[in-house]
Amino acid sequence: MKFKIAICIIYFIVTESALAAQGSQVSCVGNSGQACNAACPSPPGGCTWNTSTTLTSCQINECSYCPSFTSNTSDQFCSSCTAATPFTNFQNTACVASKYSCINRQSNPWSDFDCSTCYGKTMYANIAANSCVSSTGSCTSRGNTPWNDTDCQACNGKTLYSSTSGNTCVASVASCVQRGSTPWTDVDCNTCNGKAMYASSDQTSCVASSASCISRGGATWTSDDCKLCSPKTPKLVSGQCAANSNIIMISILIFISLVF
Ligand SMILES: *[C@@H]1O[C@H](CO)[C@@H](O)[C@H](O)[C@H]1NC(C)=O
Ligand SMILES: *[C@@H]1O[C@H](CO)[C@@H](O)[C@H](O)[C@H]1NC(C)=O
Ligand SMILES: *[C@@H]1O[C@H](CO)[C@@H](O)[C@H](O)[C@H]1NC(C)=O
Repeated sequence: MKFKIAICIIYFIVTESALAAQGSQVSCVGNSGQACNAACPSPPGGCTWNTSTTLTSCQINECSYCPSFTSNTSDQFCSSCTAATPFTNFQNTACVASKYSCINRQSNPWSDFDCSTCYGKTMYANIAANSCVSSTGSCTSRGNTPWNDTDCQACNGKTLYSSTSGNTCVASVASCVQRGSTPWTDVDCNTCNGKAMYASSDQTSCVASSASCISRGGATWTSDDCKLCSPKTPKLVSGQCAANSNIIMISILIFISLVF
């Protein structure tokens, strides 16, 4: 019996002290002579800061007075009352367990975990780890998520484009995937495809010819290269690519047969 009473008393003490809790000491920034309740950010309704003027040891008087807060969170309040979640999220609506402060990041790097934790939605650390971005997947641990132009720029903070395969981001002159009217060059064909490819003679596509279609250099034309580089002049005629006269003949014949 005595034992049970003792347990009850211990239980009571433990529960009471858990509920009735003075906050831990935290530092607030203010002018000298200012009291904690003036220098520290306003805590959630119900809670109050100590009136001490030692700004390095400010305390929430009674954390249990604001048990289910949804606003006015600050790093100071969270550190004082919820040590396991010592930082405020960006919205000042909750205390979170990010690795470093969300709002006073200083030089601490961002991680995917902290970005999502601090923003309260899926966000990713950029490659430089100095900000959070909305991308389709992680900038640093991409896994199987393909890159696209939007993510390449968001993650790198500069104009980069998704490679043709979507495996990586590259510094091409224009998009590899949505080229629009920008002509292809040998350099971009190589950059976008990550292997030797050349711009077609009319620069509207990249082809796997054996040498450049445009700056042929010393490479002699082959009939394969004529077909790849210039489908309209696919035939090798005395070292040059020429129109396929047979095709023209057949076309003329078909045209004649249709007309007459
Ligand atoms: C939040 O803080 C402001 C002062 O900055 C105060 O006026 C307001 O009442 C507080 N709101 C809550 C819900 O605690
Ligand atoms: C803050 O106030 C409480 C009483 O509300 C007191 O026990 C505590 O010592 C004070 N803390 C400081 C740092 O003055
Ligand atoms: C990249 O993918 C995201 C998510 O699907 C999409 O919102 C965005 O428009 C895409 N960007 C491009 C350039 O296709």
